[in-house]
Amino acid sequence: MPEYKLVISGNRELMGETHVSGGKNTSLAVVPAALLAESPCQLDNLPDIADMRVLVRILRHLGAKIDWKPDQKVMLADASSLTDTTVPFALSQRMRASYYFMGALLGRYGYARVGYPGGCDLGSRPIDQHLKGFRALGADIREEGGMIVLEGKLKGANVNFDMVTVGGTINVMLAAARAEGDTLMTNCAREPHIVDTANFLNRIGAHIRGAGTDTIRIRGVSRLGGAAYAVIPDQIETGTLMIAAAATRGDVTIRGCIPTHMEALTAKLLEMGVMVTSEDDVIGVKIKQGHRSIRLSTQEYPGFPTDLQQPMSALLTRAVGTSEVIENIFESRFKHLDEMRKMGAKAVINGRVAHIEGVPELHGAPVYAPDLRGGAALVIAGLMAQGTTEIYNPENIARGYEHLESKLNALGAQIRREPCQPEYNGDAVRV
Ligand code: EPZ
Repeated sequence: MPEYKLVISGNRELMGETHVSGGKNTSLAVVPAALLAESPCQLDNLPDIADMRVLVRILRHLGAKIDWKPDQKVMLADASSLTDTTVPFALSQRMRASYYFMGALLGRYGYARVGYPGGCDLGSRPIDQHLKGFRALGADIREEGGMIVLEGKLKGANVNFDMVTVGGTINVMLAAARAEGDTLMTNCAREPHIVDTANFLNRIGAHIRGAGTDTIRIRGVSRLGGAAYAVIPDQIETGTLMIAAAATRGDVTIRGCIPTHMEALTAKLLEMGVMVTSEDDVIGVKIKQGHRSIRLSTQEYPGFPTDLQQPMSALLTRAVGTSEVIENIFESRFKHLDEMRKMGAKAVINGRVAHIEGVPELHGAPVYAPDLRGGAALVIAGLMAQGTTEIYNPENIARGYEHLESKLNALGAQIRREPCQPEYNGDAVRV
């Protein structure tokens, strides 16, 4: 039951400095990876987001001892003596990244029983490539009462993915880290958080080479120990903040980021006429005049990230000219455009292609956050719009952004939470 809505007073420029939190998608991989360690791990720079809280509930359900101080971003994870190898559907369906418990538990115990994953509704999101990799490593996989049961003593193997999959690459890496013998993974995804997860695994004693390229080689080891590790900053939060600065015609400095992870977005912003500068772990974004329309095609890393397609489309609603957005990764990732139309945006969707015709301005309206990045896109649209925008179902945004409202308010935005009246909370309206 949604408890609150976001109320945004728009047409305010973002100005000043902000700081990027630890990565959501990297944390959702590294924390389950800690289950492979037989000694305690200290994980740092973890973001305080809703998905992390679900992750901690799963870890505790499995018997791991977790001491997590969200405000201090540090977690002590002790998986030395787990008591369960089942992740119930009630927890697995709360997020997409619950699938990582398949690789971690199978890799450590030779057995895992996990409910199907949940996550943003972006079209069908099968996990056939994950299962293909586990079978290649020698796992028997069956479905029992809606749960996926994976069993087998894993041996190194060759795994070639039929398509590039971030989750599949990480999941098979988790399973192969403690398999007997060598594993060669080809056609792998290359996202920064794959490198981060491999670096963590190597820190606890794994032998993984090639993460960040399309070919990963793993020499299985029989035991993994504890270690201290800090996850990388969030690539998608960095991009969301960059886009928000440009969309509000502001002047923002973003600290604690990794500019080389942002090259595809930076190139597109420069193409639009946005001024982007970068040095060490700092990116500056400002804009003086209007911005031009572009053609945007989402690709696997290092191409333009699909997770920034939705925030970027908010910026495109006010570009000079008509932009073309092609979503190559997911079947259905334009629901936010239906909401932006209520704010005066002009967008035509045809399957995986959207054409967004720039308009002089947007106006505030009540809108619904369809998913995590679509919700962030609506926040940006609300910041741009004349008047007040109400965003319902904002819990979707809290799943993946740490304190986004307070970061934006510190830059001059006016975003507040208001209780959600029962009749607005999305349930059938009682008459
Ligand atoms: C991860 O999702 C991220 N989620 C997504 O971020 C991100 O959009 C995506 O990678 C691409 O970068 C997490 O890391 C928790 P994929 P994932 O496997 O692993 C198809 C966000 O907003 N596919 O690379 O699900 C799949 O349907 C979220 O933070 C198969 O067909 O992405 C999709 O069309 C949203 N079979 C495409 O491949 C499989 O076995 C890419 O999926 C696996 C995937």
